[in-house]
Amino acid sequence: MLPDNTEYTENTLQHDPQRPGAAADPEAVRTVACVGAGVIGGGWVAHFLARGYRVVAWDPAEDAEERLRGLVDAAWPALTGLGLAEGASPDRLSVVATLAEAVADADFVQESAPERLEVKIGLLAEIDAAAPEHVVVASSTSGYSMTEMQVKAARPERLVVGHPFNPPYLVPLVEVVGGEATAPWAVEWAAEFYRAAGKSVITMDRELPGFIGNRIQEAAWREALHMVDNGEATAEQIDLAMTAGPGLRWAFFGPCLTFHMAGGEGGMAHMLDHFGPSLKAPWTRLESPELTAELRDAMVRETDEVVSGRSTADLIAQRDRRLIAVMRALAEVDAEEEREAAEAGR
Ligand SMILES: NC(=O)c1ccc[n+]([C@@H]2O[C@H](COP(=O)([O-])OP(=O)(O)OC[C@H]3O[C@@H](n4cnc5c(N)ncnc54)[C@H](O)[C@@H]3O)[C@@H](O)[C@H]2O)c1
Repeated sequence: MLPDNTEYTENTLQHDPQRPGAAADPEAVRTVACVGAGVIGGGWVAHFLARGYRVVAWDPAEDAEERLRGLVDAAWPALTGLGLAEGASPDRLSVVATLAEAVADADFVQESAPERLEVKIGLLAEIDAAAPEHVVVASSTSGYSMTEMQVKAARPERLVVGHPFNPPYLVPLVEVVGGEATAPWAVEWAAEFYRAAGKSVITMDRELPGFIGNRIQEAAWREALHMVDNGEATAEQIDLAMTAGPGLRWAFFGPCLTFHMAGGEGGMAHMLDHFGPSLKAPWTRLESPELTAELRDAMVRETDEVVSGRSTADLIAQRDRRLIAVMRALAEVDAEEEREAAEAGR
C-alpha cells in the first residue's frame, strides 16, 4: 500500500508499458460522468463541479435531477467558503436522459448506484460498453470487491474502486483499489486523477473488505454496540467520549501516531512494550492479533516513517496547535448557531 503522501509522478505512468497511449492525462480531465446521483453520487457531482469540471450526470429516478440540483445548491455555500476552482459553477452540470449519453464524452466515470451486486455487475458492463475505450471507470462501492463486480465487462482492465466518504465534497479520503482483472495503469491513473481533483488518496495493492477507513470505523462501532447492548454506556456517553476525546485528535494524527505519542520519548516501541500485554486484558472484546515481535517491529518501523524525523517536542507542538484549531473551529460554529437561533427566536 502506498501512503497518502506518496509522490506519484507522470513519469511512472509514461513508463508503465500497459498504459494505453490513448488514455488522457489525469491532469487533463475536463468532463466527468456521474452515474447514479443519490447521497454519494450527488456529493461527487458537487465536488467535481467545485473543482471546475464539467459534470454529466445520469440517474434513472424520476425526481433525480431535482434532488441532485437541490443537493448541489445546498452544498455550494460551503464549497464556496472552502474556495472554488477557477470557472467552477453549478451551471456546468448537465443531467441527461440516458446512460450512454452521460458517458459518451467523459474523460472519467464515477459510478454511485445502489449497493446491490447484480446492479453493479450489470451497470459496470453497460458503462464499459458505452464509455470511450481508455476512460477509467470507478465504482463508489463500500462493500464489493472489483473482482466480483467486473465479471461481465468486456474491458475489465479499466475498472477500479474509488471509495469515498460521505459527503464526498467535504471529506477528502478516497480509497483506490483494482480487481483481479484491473490493469495496474488504471489504478495508478485513478489515484493521480483523484489527487488532481483535490482528494487525499490511498492506493491499496490488494482488495480488502471494507477497505481501510471503514474497518477502523467499524471496530469502534462494534465496541459501541457491545457497550449499549450490555447497558455499560449510553449512546450519549459514547459519542461524547469520542468527540471530546480521541475523535478530536484523530482529525489530524491517526491512531498510530497518537499511540506513538502515548509512549512519550520512547514512542511506539515503548508504548507497545509497556501496554502491549493489556491488548489481552479481560475487558477486551475484540480479538486482537498476537503481538508478535514481527508485529511490534513493523508498527515501530512504519510509525517511524510517519514521524518522519520529527522530535517528540515537534510532534507535541504540532498536535496541540491542531487540537486548538479544531476546538476553535467547533466553538466558532457553536457560537454562530447560537446567534442564528437567537435571531430566529426574536
Ligand atoms: N452513503 C454512504 O455513506 C456511502 C459512503 C461510501 C460509499 N457509498 C456507496 O455509494 C453508492 C451509492 O450509495 P448512496 O448512499 O448514494 O445510495 P442512494 O440510494 O442515496 O443513491 C443511489 C442512487 O442510484 C440511483 N439508481 C438506482 N438504480 C440505478 C441504476 N441502475 N443505475 C444508476 N443509478 C441508479 C437511485 O435513483 C439513487 O439516486 C453505493 O455503492 C454505496 O455503497 C455510500
